[in-house]
Amino acid sequence: MPSDKLWAGRSQKATSAEADDFNSSLHFDRRLYKYDIAGSTAHAEMLLKQGIISSSDAAAIKDGLKTILDDINSGALTFDNGGEDIHMFIESELTARIGEAGKKLHTARSRNDQVALDIRMYLRDECREIDALICTLIAALADKAEEHAETVMPGYTHLQRAQPITFGHQLLAYAMMLCRDRSRLSDAVKRMNYSPLGCCALAGTTYPIDREFTAEKLGFDGVCLNSLDGVSDRDYAVEIASALSICMMHLSRLAEEMILWSSWEFSFIELDDAYTTGSSIMPQKKNSDMAELVRGKTGRVYGDLTALLTMLKGLPLAYNKDMQEDKEAIFDAVDTTKKCLSIFAPMISTMKVKKENMYRAAKKGFINATDCADYLVGKGMAFRSAYKITGELVAYCIDNDTTLDMLPIDVYKSKSELFDDGIYDAIKLENCIARRGSVGGCGKASIDAQLEFVRKNISG
Ligand code: ARG
Repeated sequence: MPSDKLWAGRSQKATSAEADDFNSSLHFDRRLYKYDIAGSTAHAEMLLKQGIISSSDAAAIKDGLKTILDDINSGALTFDNGGEDIHMFIESELTARIGEAGKKLHTARSRNDQVALDIRMYLRDECREIDALICTLIAALADKAEEHAETVMPGYTHLQRAQPITFGHQLLAYAMMLCRDRSRLSDAVKRMNYSPLGCCALAGTTYPIDREFTAEKLGFDGVCLNSLDGVSDRDYAVEIASALSICMMHLSRLAEEMILWSSWEFSFIELDDAYTTGSSIMPQKKNSDMAELVRGKTGRVYGDLTALLTMLKGLPLAYNKDMQEDKEAIFDAVDTTKKCLSIFAPMISTMKVKKENMYRAAKKGFINATDCADYLVGKGMAFRSAYKITGELVAYCIDNDTTLDMLPIDVYKSKSELFDDGIYDAIKLENCIARRGSVGGCGKASIDAQLEFVRKNISG
């Protein structure tokens, strides 16, 4: 049986049903339809302007594309004509609707530049949405941080209590990471925003096309200057998947902390019932499923990045069908990251902070030991000697089941004559925090400056 494919002519017989199915990308690239139609419309306008097609053909094409767009949007047109991909689907639908003129749309164009164009426009929009979601999460973190600008908690290194900080300071660390995620995404979009349309199959075209015209119409900053590169470049998908992987890594670290803080062992926060689940067997359980899923889905997005890099690494120029595999990977990275960001912001806003438990934990663990040593340094002792004496005092406290603030002054004095009653003020947790006035430290002025920075970052 002869082929009824758009590329019929060269082939003597139809592809097998199994091959058609294997080859087809319509079930996932259908989501590009808006961009495909926008690109085709701009292309038709350019063909008309350059005198390559007639005004009646151009009008028929534009009207036809508009009715296809409306029909897909309304659900009147569904994606079941067995098309190989979204580009073939729309072109054959157009030809079915307007006849001969539809066959002229593909003049001076190839699916290779068409698909590269569609993904760039799709990702440009998605990155805008992702950026808005990141901003919402930053705002939620900033609000919670402001509320807890003076809530004392132990800061950790090696997951050992280290020095006193505030919960606000801890949350703002994540807000800073997310500000960098915004800048990474926007950099990637800047580099991506060049139009491949007109690169055609690989070598450009003999028609007198105007690439700048379509680039400008479609909101690009310019055109890809090498036609081979224009159709074979997928750097932007890799860059965006990488920026999303980093963003997910940040979410995953915060998710991990929230899971820990929700455990009985920490009991620093309680997640709202709306973002936790119970156990089917253990009635006492309140599980941080949403945070755990964010942590789990981070691996998925890393997988998408790895799939993209691996798919591209051995490809000769220019287009190869392997590149069709870019879509499911980048779509999944985009979808997954959006879902995780969306669930995270309300989870932060609604979490209950158990200040008393944070304070209790901060009181134990000798997190004011550095301040005790700093006190001696303030009295003229060398830091290493002060460090050693404080270590001995901590050992004494452990042996006697007490803490530095409960230790009688004569025990202090037995280690150094430099100690006086001022030590108790010096190691008070609130004072330890207040004294950390260095830029970026956990003191109040730094928290205010950080809040100002992140809020300014999301306001522009
Ligand atoms: N569906 C294809 C893809 O996603 C479109 C480009 C096909 N080009 C080609 N020469 N077969 O990559």
